[in-house]
Amino acid sequence: MISVRDLHKYYGERHLFKGIDLEVHKGEVVVLIGPSGSGKSTFLRCVNGLEYFQKGEIIVDDIELRSINRKNPGRGDIDAVRKIRRKVGMVFQQFNLFPHMTVLENIIESPIKVLGLDKSTSTEKALALLRRVNLQMKVQSYPEELSGGEQQRVAIARALAMKPEAMLFDEPTSSLDPEMVGEVLSVIKDLVTEGLTTLIATHEMGFAREIADRVVVFDKGDVIETGSPEEIFTNPKTERTKAFLSRILKN
Ligand SMILES: Nc1ncnc2c1ncn2[C@@H]1O[C@H](COP(=O)(O)OP(=O)(O)OP(=O)(O)O)[C@@H](O)[C@H]1O
Ligand SMILES: [Mg+2]
Repeated sequence: MISVRDLHKYYGERHLFKGIDLEVHKGEVVVLIGPSGSGKSTFLRCVNGLEYFQKGEIIVDDIELRSINRKNPGRGDIDAVRKIRRKVGMVFQQFNLFPHMTVLENIIESPIKVLGLDKSTSTEKALALLRRVNLQMKVQSYPEELSGGEQQRVAIARALAMKPEAMLFDEPTSSLDPEMVGEVLSVIKDLVTEGLTTLIATHEMGFAREIADRVVVFDKGDVIETGSPEEIFTNPKTERTKAFLSRILKN
């Protein structure tokens, strides 16, 4: 479903990714872990076409995104980025809802504008999604009237309204108060149980262990280890993974 081959990414002079390869199969849940600054967000942003990269390719289904010349992206690249963003939804640490729109308007905006759905169809679908994330009573609220956990669930519903074939989550709970983490994780857990192809960066190790089919460990822009949750959490092979896990589990 998602295939990343020989991905190279520079930030200025800094060569962050030096050839990353990763395959995500349909229905698979892949969790990215690793220290702060190791490249998890950058990786997810590359997969979604939000970030330029200098070498390699990213293939989602039949769409191929190749390295883009930042100053002069070719027409093909722009088309590929647009197609990939339609197929792959993304949820960020900061919810990025439109503040001047109600919950319902936030959700139906893109289905109407981008997918060309009519208002009543998209509203009906939005209401079903809001029930799914347990927010049917907040349809007419504005983002500022919601808790962080509620806003994040709206953001998830909004991404799902585009009928993505895969979802990327970038630390979806790390800006939430502890008591709201559970409700968001439980929505994500339901989605992955239903077979949604998912890539998720998280510092929630218990959650990672519970939902991952595969765990990928990043460190300083390298993928240092990949394995089942069992392998990574109980029997990590590299010293760097061991050090990271012992640091994070201590906190
Ligand atoms: N726009 C940018 N310009 C320059 N460097 C950047 C930019 N964005 C990220 N970086 C650098 O790239 C590296 C990887 O950052 P990234 O945000 O991908 O890490 P991360 O693994 O998501 O970290 P965290 O767990 O804190 O979210 C970091 O050293 C960061 O400083
Ligand atoms: Mg990050």
